[in-house]
Amino acid sequence: MPDILPVHLAIIMDGNGRWAKQRKMPRIMGHKKGVDVVNKVVRHASKLGIKYLSLFAFSMENWQRPGDEVSFLMRLLDEYIEKELNTILRENIRFTVTGNMEMIPEGTRNKLMNASDRSADNTGMTLNLALSYGGRAEIADAARQIARLAASGKLRPDDINEDNFLQFMYHPEIPDVDLLIRTSGELRISNFMLWRIAYSELYFTGKLWPDITEEDIDEAIEDFAGRTRRFGKTDDQVDI
Ligand code: FPP
Repeated sequence: MPDILPVHLAIIMDGNGRWAKQRKMPRIMGHKKGVDVVNKVVRHASKLGIKYLSLFAFSMENWQRPGDEVSFLMRLLDEYIEKELNTILRENIRFTVTGNMEMIPEGTRNKLMNASDRSADNTGMTLNLALSYGGRAEIADAARQIARLAASGKLRPDDINEDNFLQFMYHPEIPDVDLLIRTSGELRISNFMLWRIAYSELYFTGKLWPDITEEDIDEAIEDFAGRTRRFGKTDDQVDI
C-alpha cells in the first residue's frame, strides 16, 4: 500500500440494480449483496488507516424510487445496524450519519442515532453514512442557519467566509474529500458532498458495487497516490 492515503475517502456505491438485472434477480437482491460489500470495504478501509470513510447509501432523490424498494432499503439499513454495531464498536469505529434524518422512519432513525451515540467517543475511522442526503440541501441548510443568525444580529454577513461556512454544514469536523470513487461506469457526482469535493481526486470504475473487492479499493488508492494535487497552484509551487 502506498504511504499516501486519502484522509477522507468517499464512495458513490452504484450499480446494485444492474448487478441484479444481469442475474435476472429482483433489484433488491443487488442491494442485499451491496451490504456485504459495504462490510468488506468498511473493514478494509479501517485496517488501512483511512480516517474518514463516507458512503452514499441513499440520496434525497432515491425517495422517488418505488415504495417497496425504498422500504426494503430502510429494512436493510435497520438490519445493517443491528448486525454490525458490535463490530463497529469493537473496531473502534465512530459511526455518523449525514443527511435529512427527519425523513427516515422513526425506528430506523432511533437505531442510527443509538449507533452514533454509542460510538461517539471512538477514536478510529469515522464511518459516515450519507442517508437521505443531498449536497445542495446541505448547503441550503447551512445558508438558512447563517441567514437566521444574521437576521437576529448574532452574525455579521461580512464575517462569513469559506472556512467558517463549513461550521454550518453537517458534521463540520469531517474534512474535505481527498478521493471520491464512483462505481458502475457512471461519470457523475449526483449531488454528493458538493462543498467538500471542490478539490477531490475523482476515480471512476466500470465495476458494479456488488462486484467491488478490497483490491479494487487498493487500486483506486494507488492511483490517487500517484496524482499531483495542485489545488489551483502550478507544478513548481507544489512539492512534487
Ligand atoms: C445504487 O445502485 C445504490 C443505491 C441507491 C443504494 C446503495 C445501498 C447499498 C449499497 C446497500 C445499503 C447500504 C447499507 C449501509 C445498509 P442502483 O440501485 O442505483 O443501481 P443501478 O444504477 O444499477 O440501478
